[in-house]
Amino acid sequence: MTDQAPNPYAGPQRVLSGVQPTGDLHLGNYLGALVKFVRLQHEMPTFIFVADLHAITEWQDPAKLKGQVREITAAFLATGLDPKVATIFAQSAIPEHAELAWVFDCVARVGWLDRMTQFKDKAGKHKERASVGLYAYPVLQAADILLYKATHVPVGEDQKQHLELTRDIAGKFNHDFERPGFFPLPEPLTQGPGARVMSLRDGQVKMSKSDPSDYSRINLTDDADTIAQKVKKARTDAEPLPEQLEALEGRPEAQNLVAIYAALAGLSPAQVLGEFAGQGFGAFKPKLADLAVSVMGPIGAEMRRLLADPAEIDRILGDGAERARAIATPTMAEVRKIVGFWAG
Ligand code: ADP
Ligand code: TRP
Repeated sequence: MTDQAPNPYAGPQRVLSGVQPTGDLHLGNYLGALVKFVRLQHEMPTFIFVADLHAITEWQDPAKLKGQVREITAAFLATGLDPKVATIFAQSAIPEHAELAWVFDCVARVGWLDRMTQFKDKAGKHKERASVGLYAYPVLQAADILLYKATHVPVGEDQKQHLELTRDIAGKFNHDFERPGFFPLPEPLTQGPGARVMSLRDGQVKMSKSDPSDYSRINLTDDADTIAQKVKKARTDAEPLPEQLEALEGRPEAQNLVAIYAALAGLSPAQVLGEFAGQGFGAFKPKLADLAVSVMGPIGAEMRRLLADPAEIDRILGDGAERARAIATPTMAEVRKIVGFWAG
């Protein structure tokens, strides 16, 4: 895939991102995505949604899905998204996501999707048994973003390839239908010390909801004792922390814990080393555990409080859907006309 020529998009700037309701949110989701949403909502119009259409690319219990959507919504709110400032909604409330995805299925090329590493990772050895939806997943993601003509997409580093595909789809649509600048070519916002939080059990793989070991991650809903236990058991090496960042090369677990500390404390990794150089993990880990508890503890408590009133969460999602629809409906109407549909 190649980047198209500069795009003359002249519309408003918008932030958009989504999170799947497929399990407990963890520190990686929090640092890689949620904290960025909270910051950006004050800079640009911000649209944050729960990706329940994406969730069913892998089996979800129908009796639980709605509750999972409310949980992610509670996590957004507990982290500091303000429903009066940001538009918070459920993807399934806006059927135009699926409709635009179909048009994009006909714009994207099989060769582009064949290169997607997330599909390869998730489908594993038995690719022919994966759902067609799992294969087309990044096309739906492009529709999520472009339906709102979003220009900025805060995500963790693992989503970079999907953002490149989104740009390619936008560029090809604009080119094929001779509408330069109709869709923007959105920028991924992946920077920051939490862009790629690694597993506490293995510094080479990312912290993930799907890791079978709960000790690999800190969940937003973990209580203080659990967080402290997980930090204590985190894999490390026997060396003390060095003075220079370069000396962390080749020590992925140490690097990860320093990066987590830095992100949680709002410091740079170099500043963290400035504070802890010469100390071993026996001294560093309790400090990290205290910091993690002080940041995550109140978020988990607030989530529990919010989840006790599901009707209020549904009210917020209903209000968000109305505001999302005000952007999505006209975009889809324009696309129908551009494509030449009978019902355009
Ligand atoms: P997961 O990858 O755990 O299944 P999602 O796919 O729902 O979670 O991801 C939601 C957001 O969190 C995305 O923006 C994703 O890039 C980000 N994210 C997920 N895991 C990590 C991680 N380990 N480090 C940083 N960001 C992450
Ligand atoms: N694929 C993203 C993830 O796994 C979730 C997602 C769905 C998303 N649609 C999106 C992220 C649109 C940003 C923009 O984390």
